[in-house]
Amino acid sequence: MKNIAILASGTGTNAAKIMDHFIGNPQIFVSVVASNNDTAGVLDEAVERGVPTAIFSNEQLHDEEIMLNMLHGIDLIVLAGFMRKIPPFLLEEFEDRIVNIHPALLPKFGGKGMYGNKVHEAVIEAGEKQTGITIHLVNEEYDEGKILFQESIPVKQTDTPESLAMRVQKLEHEHFPKIIQKLVRSL
Ligand code: GRF
Repeated sequence: MKNIAILASGTGTNAAKIMDHFIGNPQIFVSVVASNNDTAGVLDEAVERGVPTAIFSNEQLHDEEIMLNMLHGIDLIVLAGFMRKIPPFLLEEFEDRIVNIHPALLPKFGGKGMYGNKVHEAVIEAGEKQTGITIHLVNEEYDEGKILFQESIPVKQTDTPESLAMRVQKLEHEHFPKIIQKLVRSL
């Protein structure tokens, strides 16, 4: 049995899809959904599905004992809208076992401050013809780890950040659970 922890700070639509994807899987189990935001919608998504939740403060994120305790027995950490930098001790303990999803084609439109609608606004502003999703391993820099998967869609002349966000989100929901499954199987 391989155990996944999902770390998320927001609504958790990706987390919900991931939890649903692995329900009943005899080999892969979402063991915990952990958040640094005690009002995050992702916690409700977990409770609804009977998945254990954990909450930690932004200070506790840097406390080795607390975090390693919380993540004890975890094989893969999935970041699904987690808005904080991962501390070095976690990167070391979970080397090549932390995966993130970004709503653009990295290395473009990534880095600090590039999240949510800001990404899609920037894509439109730059006149990009294509956008998409990137699923990548996590290292010490925002959005710079090894790319595992990308999928692109055209940006239409009539697109707004909101319309783009909707289409990109659909891609995320479709691919993230499958790529996680592949990654877990390779561990
Ligand atoms: C997604 O767009 C993901 O690419 C980014 O954060 C967002 C999380 O959305 N890292 P949700 O909370 O899963 O709906």
